[in-house]
Amino acid sequence: MKFFVDTADTTEIRKALAWGILDGVTTNPSLVAKTGRRFEDVRAEILAMVSGPVSLEVTDMTLEGMLKQGRDLAALGPQVVVKLPLTREGIAACKALTDEGIRTNVTLCFSANQALLAAKAGATYISPFVGRLDDISMDGMRLIEDIVQIYKNYSFKTQVLVASVRHPVHILQAAKMGAHVCTVPFKVLDQLFNHPLTDMGNEQFLKDWAKVPG
Ligand code: E4P
Repeated sequence: MKFFVDTADTTEIRKALAWGILDGVTTNPSLVAKTGRRFEDVRAEILAMVSGPVSLEVTDMTLEGMLKQGRDLAALGPQVVVKLPLTREGIAACKALTDEGIRTNVTLCFSANQALLAAKAGATYISPFVGRLDDISMDGMRLIEDIVQIYKNYSFKTQVLVASVRHPVHILQAAKMGAHVCTVPFKVLDQLFNHPLTDMGNEQFLKDWAKVPG
């Protein structure tokens, strides 16, 4: 399973890259706003650092606007994946950009039927938001199970990119279900390393090592 970091904070991206386990980055308008920086500056810095897929989202909701923004974003670098909302216009833009050879990530997916639309439009990635479904007392991971099954049934090439991840158990479940990618907030990626037995064991090894005659 691939790991993307879900952030526009370049300090976080740099730290995750240094671990050597990062495959890509996803951003969205809210994450960019959180940085307090211009989108042009943030994306240029991310693209200079990351060689894997970098999702950059369109903000024009018309088909024409999405196509223009999508083409402009794609021209910024080979890593760019154009992120499009799961609307009628977003799906039409996905089909058109896919036909032009531009990679797409269809975002704000909350149902398996929506995921079916994205796959039929040739999306490179579908982003089902598991945490936001959990927030309204629905089972976000059940949606992942359904989409993985449906995509397998029809051999769709669209990759399931688990989004709105809130904790390490989401990642564990996604991996067991065979999702292709998880996009994870930096804090949750960091949590994956933690185990008290690792810390205790390491501490003991170092204590014992100090007793070894030099
Ligand atoms: C996906 O690409 C989105 O950026 C993200 O995962 C949304 O997560 P949130 O529900 O924590 O905002």
